[in-house]
Amino acid sequence: MRLIFTLLLVILSIIAASAHKNDKCPSSPYFDVAPSDITHAKDLSATELAFHEKYMKIAIDVAVKHNSKFAAAIVHKNGTLMCTGVNIGGSRMYHGEVKAIMNCTDLYKSATWEDHYMYTTGEPCPMCSAAIMWTKFQKVIFASYVSNMYCERCFNQLPMDSNEIFKLGYGINHNIVVIGGVMDNITDTFFPSVCNQAETGWGVTPLCQKGWSRDCPRPSRYFGN
Ligand SMILES: *[C@@H]1O[C@H](CO)[C@@H](O)[C@H](O)[C@H]1NC(C)=O
Ligand SMILES: *[C@@H]1O[C@H](CO)[C@@H](O)[C@H](O)[C@H]1NC(C)=O
Ligand SMILES: *[C@@H]1O[C@H](CO)[C@@H](O)[C@H](O)[C@H]1NC(C)=O
Ligand SMILES: [Zn+2]
Repeated sequence: MRLIFTLLLVILSIIAASAHKNDKCPSSPYFDVAPSDITHAKDLSATELAFHEKYMKIAIDVAVKHNSKFAAAIVHKNGTLMCTGVNIGGSRMYHGEVKAIMNCTDLYKSATWEDHYMYTTGEPCPMCSAAIMWTKFQKVIFASYVSNMYCERCFNQLPMDSNEIFKLGYGINHNIVVIGGVMDNITDTFFPSVCNQAETGWGVTPLCQKGWSRDCPRPSRYFGN
């Protein structure tokens, strides 16, 4: 009896000690940062909007030409079109942005794209957002928002705003300027609702917060520069 009691005490003190240790631990090893800042097309100056629309149109045309929805164009900040990419399958990984980066890398043998802008018809998914950060684009400009494709129209998407990935740039010393909604009035027509899965044969049932609509403000933070 006494032995059992002693053993119990020892076990309890071990548990208490480990609980105490855990008390000091943060919930995550990493710094907790808010989503990075994003500028919406409607808030751009007329001059800047016109510049971005010119190149978004190139990405849109490439998508249409290939009977795809997802295409991208890489443009030097001086306005030179460097290359394009389009998702035509082959691998589930060959998203428009990835294809464009691969294309430009082959063409120009450059590992990074500091002075360049990435234009893409759909907001970059987490995979493409990470690729765009690693390759150090200065700006990313997208048309349709992931939230609108997923929550409104049941497109299968990894449900995450791109600036949840872009905010992590502190780990690789890279901040990117993010602009959303450029010509989404056109690209949104590419993405009609696929919510009727019986009719479309695909699409997903989105798990989105009650009360969300595209008019809700999008979480973001101003990170300077
Ligand atoms: C713009 O940048 C591209 C890519 O670096 C370069 O080839 C081109 O000569 C530049 N054009 C001008 C007008 O500076
Ligand atoms: C690569 O970019 C070039 C230049 O814009 C384009 O003509 C070509 O179709 C692209 N290749 C692929 C595989 O998308
Ligand atoms: C889409 O919006 C742009 C302005 O951002 C406008 O120039 C264009 O006419 C609009 N297109 C359609 C089809 O509504
Ligand atoms: Zn992607």
